[in-house]
Amino acid sequence: MSEFENKIAIVTGAAGGIGEEICDVLAGQGIHVVMADKSPNLELIYENFKTKYPENKGFAVTLDLTQESEVENLVNQTVERLGRLDIMVNNAGVIQSMQAITELPLEVVNFVMDVNFKGVFLGSKYAARQMKKQKSCSIINTGSWYGKRGYKYFAGYCCLAIVAKSAFFRCMCVICVLRKVYGAKPSHS
Ligand SMILES: NC(=O)c1ccc[n+]([C@@H]2O[C@H](COP(=O)([O-])OP(=O)(O)OC[C@H]3O[C@@H](n4cnc5c(N)ncnc54)[C@H](O)[C@@H]3O)[C@@H](O)[C@H]2O)c1
Repeated sequence: MSEFENKIAIVTGAAGGIGEEICDVLAGQGIHVVMADKSPNLELIYENFKTKYPENKGFAVTLDLTQESEVENLVNQTVERLGRLDIMVNNAGVIQSMQAITELPLEVVNFVMDVNFKGVFLGSKYAARQMKKQKSCSIINTGSWYGKRGYKYFAGYCCLAIVAKSAFFRCMCVICVLRKVYGAKPSHS
């Protein structure tokens, strides 16, 4: 029996390539997975998931992660239906078209920031509220190589969203460790 058996996880961006794989790996360890995404494809992906893992108590939630009330509802629904939340995987993300910074519209930067940074912030905020009550915490953010090294045509994606996400995560680790509240271990982004 896996040490993760019967843990409860939320995975955002579950209808995307990496998110779907994360759900598969977690379910393979006996973790009940709540699959969250805004894509209409989520329904079909969830059906396939349930065919492979019929015992899994997870469910699918269609939402827009940039909307605070929808993220709060995602965590609340998970706790109401499954009793707790052990693992939050903030994986959903968007990418910008390749453009020089001199041509990059502010709307594109706002869009990337809204999903890749604010979405992660909101997911972490509501997951941490629940995890604080449980006195246990595991929040995982999907980062990117682009957050470590800039790339000239990806200013919105790497310089802003991914670096901001990484910096935010480091802040959370410091808070968690200093307060010794959640038992979180900082990881290297
Ligand atoms: N694919 C890569 O090579 C790569 C490399 C490094 C990092 N990443 C990161 O990994 C993560 C997943 O990437 P992927 O390649 O699977 O992307 P993907 O586009 O296949 O999947 C991302 C998912 O996020 C969902 N999403 C986007 N905006 C949303 C919103 N507002 N609310 C809810 N869901 C939303 C999309 O519907 C999609 O299903 C992203 O954070 C990305 O930055 C990807």
